[in-house]
Amino acid sequence: MREASTRSRQPGSLDEISLVRPDDWHAHFRDGAVLADVVPASAARFARAVAMPNLLPPVTTTGAALAYRDRILAAVPPGAAFEPLMTLYLTDDTGADEIRRATASGRIIGVKLYPAGATTNSAHGVTDLGRCGAALDAMQECGLVLMVHGEVTGEDVDVFDRERVFVERTLAPLLDRFPGLKVVLEHVTTADGVEFVRGARDGVAATITAHHLLLNRNAIFEGGLRPHHYCLPVLKRERHRAVLVDAATGGEGRFFLGTDSAPHPRHAKESACGCAGLYTAHAGIELYAEAFERAGALDALEGFASRNGPAFYGLEPNRETITLRREPRTVPNTMPIGDDVLVPFRAGSRVGWSIAP
Ligand code: NCD
Ligand code: ZN
Ligand code: ZN
Repeated sequence: MREASTRSRQPGSLDEISLVRPDDWHAHFRDGAVLADVVPASAARFARAVAMPNLLPPVTTTGAALAYRDRILAAVPPGAAFEPLMTLYLTDDTGADEIRRATASGRIIGVKLYPAGATTNSAHGVTDLGRCGAALDAMQECGLVLMVHGEVTGEDVDVFDRERVFVERTLAPLLDRFPGLKVVLEHVTTADGVEFVRGARDGVAATITAHHLLLNRNAIFEGGLRPHHYCLPVLKRERHRAVLVDAATGGEGRFFLGTDSAPHPRHAKESACGCAGLYTAHAGIELYAEAFERAGALDALEGFASRNGPAFYGLEPNRETITLRREPRTVPNTMPIGDDVLVPFRAGSRVGWSIAP
């Protein structure tokens, strides 16, 4: 317990909690004019964030990643200290030389595996992991982390089973074939994924989003179809959500924070074929505080949000702290995204916690 840094109205009901400044180990910032709309929300909460590479075209080279890093940094508000941690987008053609260049840059901490067709902007993703042997060998040797969108594609597998089947068919053999490769199962959503990570060899971890801790799949159909609750991997049954909460709040070092905040313009979500992704960066740590509070586990938030991620990636935790207050606030109905608007998570309703200035 962080007794020294928490203030309580009554026992068990903390009004304020201070923690080491957290990091976001999975974020989408997009590019161009959108950066100025979304980067400040992350920079206000997190000291570092993993910038996912699924741009159009995807970030497949070290040069492109470093240029993207500069564009993200240019969108950080003056006075804020924020470090984007860069990633490469793995393709069938990624070579060992690119992996070595990425490692030598000192700015790229991982390579993202999108099975082709699995999610937003994954068309250039990997069609057959068998073609990526040279890149994966080099990553294992260099210590670059493989970050995985863990879903199989293909009509034969039910959408709700895609993570479980990926773990069985793809992840388990991959870990055996590359015994020294560090792997993060990104945005884990199922009890099967959690159990697998718990029992896996060293060097395997998972990120968990706030929305998968707070919502089950009923939220997609609440009184009608809710495109703003559609993400990938799709929300799952309550029993899976409960296991995710256990994993996040249980003090297990293999699980850490990754918002998967994924901004899309409103028209792209409210559409006959809507995009997957929830925008949560505006309450990126506050939503986790809600989920941990509901589980009676606010004392476990710092480990999950601020310590487990750096420990896995071999980095120091941040030095500064932030303070969260139980001060509910209403989320705007829309927020700007370039020339457009997006509908943020909890639009028009409340988030229970705020960041103390
Ligand atoms: C993400 C996006 O929009 O980039 N969407 C999502 O539903 N999570 C892609 C991803 O992380 O799979
Ligand atoms: Zn993904
Ligand atoms: Zn993502």
